[in-house]
Amino acid sequence: MSEPILEASNLSKNFNGFHAVNNVSLRIEQGTIHALIGANGAGKTTCFNLLSKFLAPSSGRIRLKGRDITRFRPDRVARLGLVRSFQLSAVFASLTALENVGLALQRRRGESFDFWRSTRKLDDNRARAEELLDAVGLADDHHTLAAELPYGRKRALELATTLGKDPEVMLLDEPTAGMATEDVGHITRLIREVARGRTVVMVEHNLGVVSELCDRITVLARGEILVEGDYDTVARDERVIESYIGGGGHA
Ligand SMILES: Nc1ncnc2c1ncn2[C@@H]1O[C@H](COP(=O)(O)OP(=O)(O)O)[C@@H](O)[C@H]1O
Ligand SMILES: [Mg+2]
Repeated sequence: MSEPILEASNLSKNFNGFHAVNNVSLRIEQGTIHALIGANGAGKTTCFNLLSKFLAPSSGRIRLKGRDITRFRPDRVARLGLVRSFQLSAVFASLTALENVGLALQRRRGESFDFWRSTRKLDDNRARAEELLDAVGLADDHHTLAAELPYGRKRALELATTLGKDPEVMLLDEPTAGMATEDVGHITRLIREVARGRTVVMVEHNLGVVSELCDRITVLARGEILVEGDYDTVARDERVIESYIGGGGHA
């Protein structure tokens, strides 16, 4: 087996003694799309926040490209190529789609806003922002205020701002949550396209999306790994079926 691009070893997170994530080890192979699924309360979000460094683990280690990032802050791992999406909380409603992506590009690699930057660089950023918007299907919405975009397009914009940071490893938090069926199909195709040449880890509720996109699936239950494998392996596992039905939750 090749060296994983992202590796978690024996990760645990306790909240006042409650084990939200318990001894989870993950190997995320370069170039794959890897899903974290499980019933409500299984520990997906906590796991996602640990991987993206927004939570510090109680114990365990995380490595990115062989480098121990357990104690790194999110901005530092972002500069190393590990970038997470934010479920719209990073989209500014009163800015246009183009301004939103422009801002993400400016913030990439920790650049701060700078009036004195060369016009050339600003032009480059603008061209790149336009390209990213076109890539996520927002070619006609460059100058639409984010607030005025329908929900599915807002999520596409969120994807464009995440891509603006040029992630090697992209962590997506429920990219299809709350979407109408036609938007789910659109965003699924989009993720497949933008995943080329990258590694994607996603928390996803929609099993149809998971089956269509993901090379490998880790099923969490009560903070621990229940099963891991490709979709067929996971979908026919009795414990997974039981956990979903018994747990009262959908994915
Ligand atoms: N900040 C927190 N403080 C206390 N308990 C938490 C906190 N975050 C999550 N939990 C608990 O940890 C468990 C796993 O939560 P979570 O990771 O959000 O699960 P999922 O995303 O799979 O629904 C749940 O029982 C939840 O109540
Ligand atoms: Mg969650």
